[in-house]
Amino acid sequence: MNEIAKIFETLEYGPAPESPQPALDWLAAHGGRFGHFIDGKWTAPGEAFASTNPANGKVLAELSGGTAADVDKAVKAARAAFKGWAALSGFERGKYLYAIAREVQKHSRLFAVLESLDNGKPIRESRDVDIPLVARHFYHHAGWAQLRDREFPGLVPYGVCGQIIPWNFPLLMLSWKIAPALAAGNTVILKPAEFTSLTALLFAEICGRIGLPKGVVNIVTGEGETGEAIVNHPDIDKIAFTGSTEVGKAIRAATAGSGKGLSLELGGKSPYIVFEDADLDSAIEGLVDAIWFNQGQVCCAGSRLLVQESIEERFLAKLKKRMATLRVGDPLDKAVDIGALVAPVQVARVTELVKKGVAEGGTLYEPDIDVPGSGCFLRPMLISDVSPANTVATEEIFGPVLVEMSFRTPDEAVALANNTRYGLAATLWSENINLALDIAPRLKAGVVWINGTNQFDAAVGFGGYRESGFGREGGREGMAVYLKPAWEKALKPAGGQSPVDKLRTKPKTAAAAMSPHGESVEPRGRARNPLDTADRLDQTAKMYIGGKQARPDSGYSRLVHGRDGVLGEVGEGNRKDIRNAVEAARAALGWGTTAAHNRAQILYFLAENLEYRRKEFAERIRAQAGVTAAAAENEVAQTVERLFAFAAWADKYDGAVHNPPARAIAAAMVEPLGVLGIVAPPELPLLGSVALLAPAIAMGNTVVLIPSEPHPLSMTDFYQVLETSDVPSGAVNIVTGDAASLARTLAEHDGVDGLWCCAPAEISAMVEKASVGNLKQTWTSRGLAFDLADTERFGGDYFLAKATQVKNVWIPYGA
Ligand code: NAI
Repeated sequence: MNEIAKIFETLEYGPAPESPQPALDWLAAHGGRFGHFIDGKWTAPGEAFASTNPANGKVLAELSGGTAADVDKAVKAARAAFKGWAALSGFERGKYLYAIAREVQKHSRLFAVLESLDNGKPIRESRDVDIPLVARHFYHHAGWAQLRDREFPGLVPYGVCGQIIPWNFPLLMLSWKIAPALAAGNTVILKPAEFTSLTALLFAEICGRIGLPKGVVNIVTGEGETGEAIVNHPDIDKIAFTGSTEVGKAIRAATAGSGKGLSLELGGKSPYIVFEDADLDSAIEGLVDAIWFNQGQVCCAGSRLLVQESIEERFLAKLKKRMATLRVGDPLDKAVDIGALVAPVQVARVTELVKKGVAEGGTLYEPDIDVPGSGCFLRPMLISDVSPANTVATEEIFGPVLVEMSFRTPDEAVALANNTRYGLAATLWSENINLALDIAPRLKAGVVWINGTNQFDAAVGFGGYRESGFGREGGREGMAVYLKPAWEKALKPAGGQSPVDKLRTKPKTAAAAMSPHGESVEPRGRARNPLDTADRLDQTAKMYIGGKQARPDSGYSRLVHGRDGVLGEVGEGNRKDIRNAVEAARAALGWGTTAAHNRAQILYFLAENLEYRRKEFAERIRAQAGVTAAAAENEVAQTVERLFAFAAWADKYDGAVHNPPARAIAAAMVEPLGVLGIVAPPELPLLGSVALLAPAIAMGNTVVLIPSEPHPLSMTDFYQVLETSDVPSGAVNIVTGDAASLARTLAEHDGVDGLWCCAPAEISAMVEKASVGNLKQTWTSRGLAFDLADTERFGGDYFLAKATQVKNVWIPYGA
C-alpha cells in the first residue's frame, strides 16, 4: 500500500511541527538574559533564575528575581508617569491601547510560539485562543479608554496598580490586567509568574516600540517574594491578583487596613452538569474543552462532572472512547490536544492528588495512549466512584483530571454543584431551555455556560463568587474595579465622638440583668455598680432575630444614654446571637429571588409606615443624639426619602446583555451577595442604619444589622415598622451591643457573604483581616467621614454595586 492509501486507511495524524526558531532568535537577541522593564528601559539583569521549557526541561532564558528595591523603583516610575497618563484624553489613551492591539496581532505567531515554549500549552491553543483574545482585549479596552468619562462620570483611576498574575494563561492574564487598568487611566507594575514571564517581556518590548509613555507599564519578574514586595508597597493604590486561593487570602490579610483597592480572581472547582436530555456528543466535546484545555490548568476548568444517573453509563462509555483519541505530546505540534504541564512541581502535585483520590475509594481511568517519555506530560484522567466529601471532589487539582459524580434530580444537581467553597464558573447541558434557564440562576458561580464551555470575551465580565474571589475582569464590570469616586480621595478622618457618644456604657452583670431597676446615670470616675439599670421598668429593647423579638443570649444588657440621662437598655449581643441571626438570615435567602417589584413595594411600605410615626422617631433621635428637634425631624424625613430611593432602584438596578463575537449572548445578571452583615455608624441613629440597610435589601440580600452602638434605640423601634411592612421574617435581623466585637464575629462567620462596617480605622482593618476565612466582600469606612446623609453620593449605585455581584450566563443561539 502506498503512503497516501495507508493514511486513508489509518486516518492517523502526521506530525505538524511549528518552528520554535523565531522565538529562540528573539531570546538570543536579548542574550538569553533579561532584567526588568522599568520606566521604559531594561534594567541590568540581577540575581537570576531560569525559565525552562516544560516539554523538554531546556533552559529558555535567565530572568531576574525582583528585589524590594526593584519594586520600589518601578513604583516610583509608575507614580511619576501617573499624572501625565491620567491627564491624557480618553482618545489619546485609546490610541495607545489600539496600537498595542495592532502590535499583538502583527506579532501573534511569535507570541504564540513563545507562549507554548514557555508554558507547555499546545500551539493550537496559544495561536487560536490565547493570543487572539489578548488582541481582542486591547481593542475592546481602547474603546473603554475613549468612553471612560462619558460612561463612568465622577469616577477616577486609583493611581498606581500592582498586578500579579499566574502561569496558566500568561499573556492573556496580563492583558486582562493591563488593558482595563490603562484604559481607566492607571499606571501599572505587573509581575508575571516565575514559570512564564517571557511573553510579558516581549509585551514590554512592544510597549517600548509603540512609544507608550515611560513608566506607564512596568514589568518586574520574580517569585512570590517579589509579589509580596508589590502587595506591601505603601505607594501602590490598588492590587489585582490572579492565582491560588491560598495566596489570594494572604494578600487580603496583607492589604487589610491599607486602603488599597483589591480585586482577586482565584481558584475554582467548577461543576459540569449534564442532564439526561442533553446533546451527549456535544456535551462530550465540551467536556474535552472544559477539562483538557490547557492540560486542565484553568481556574474555571469544568473539573467536577455531574451526570444524570439515567445516562451515566452511556455518557461515561462515550467519554472514555473520546479520551482514547486525545493526543498528548509536543506542544509545538499543531495536531496535539494536550501539551506539557507548566513545571515538574505541578506534575508532582497533580499525581499526589490523584493518588489520594484513589486511596479514598475513587476509580481511576487513564486511556492507553502514548505520552512522551520525558517532560511534564500526563495522560487525561477520569476518577469516578467519588463522593462529594472526597479530596479530589473538593480540592482544585489544576491538572488533566476529571472527577465524576452522578445526580438524580435537577435539585440534587444544583445542591452538588454548589457544594463547594468556590464559585467561579459552571457549565450545564440540556436541550430543554426551561430547565437550563431555571438552573443557571441557582448556580453559585460568576459565569455559567449553557450548552458550551470556556467561552471568554473582553466584553463579558469574568470572576468569581465566594472563595473564587471578587471583582470582575472584562466589560463594564471589569472597568469598574479600576475606578473609584473622585470624592473618596478628599474624605477627611471622621471627627471625634459626640458628647453623647462618650457616655457609652459597659455591660452589666447577669445579676443586674435579672433586676432591671436602678439609677439613670453612670457615676463618673468610679466603677459602675452592676446593679445600676434604667430608671423605668420594661425599658430593655429586645433584639430582632428571625422575625421575633429576642433576648440576648448573654443575659446581659447595656444602658443607653441620651441627652438627659439614661433612656433605656438594649441587649448585650454576643457570638451566639450573631450565629442565630445569621442562621435566620440564611433561612430567609428566598428574599433574593422575590420579584424585584415586590421588594420595591415592601420598601415603599416601610417608608410609608415610618412616615406615619415620624414624630415618635424624631423624638427618639433627639433624645438619644441630643440634636435639635428640627435636625431629628430632618433625619426621619431623609430616611423616608432614602427608602423611597431604594424602592425606586429595586427593580431598576438590573443587568445587561452582552454581545460577544460568537453565536451567543451573555446575560449579565445582577445578583445579591447573600447574607450581608452591616455595622452602622455611631452617628445618625436611624438614617445611619437605613442608608445601608435599604440598598442591601433592595437588591435581595438578607441582613444582620448592628445598629449605632451609642444610639441603638431608633433601630430597635424600627423593627416594629419592619413587622408592619411585610418584610419577611429573617430578611432583617438586628443585634445590639458592642459594635467592634460583633463586627469581628460577623467577619469571622462563614455564613456571612459580605460585610459593611462603618468604624474607626483600626476596627475596619480588623474586619478586613478577619474576613479572609471565606473571602467575604467587605466595605469599610476606614475611619473616614462618609456622610451617609449625602443623597447624591449614597442614594444610588455606590452601595447598590457593593450589594451585588454580576453573573454572566452565556446562552448560545442558532440551530
Ligand atoms: P500562586 O498563587 O502561588 O502563584 C500566582 C502568582 O502569585 C505568581 O505570580 C506568584 O509568584 C505570586 N505569588 C506567590 N506568592 C505570593 C505572595 N505571597 N504574595 C504575592 N504574590 C505571590 O500559584 P502557584 O503556587 O503557582 O500554583 C499552586 C496552585 O495554585 C495550583 O496548583 C493551582 O491549584 C492554583 N492556581 C490557581 C490559579 C487560578 O487561576 N485559579 C492560577 C495559578 C495557580
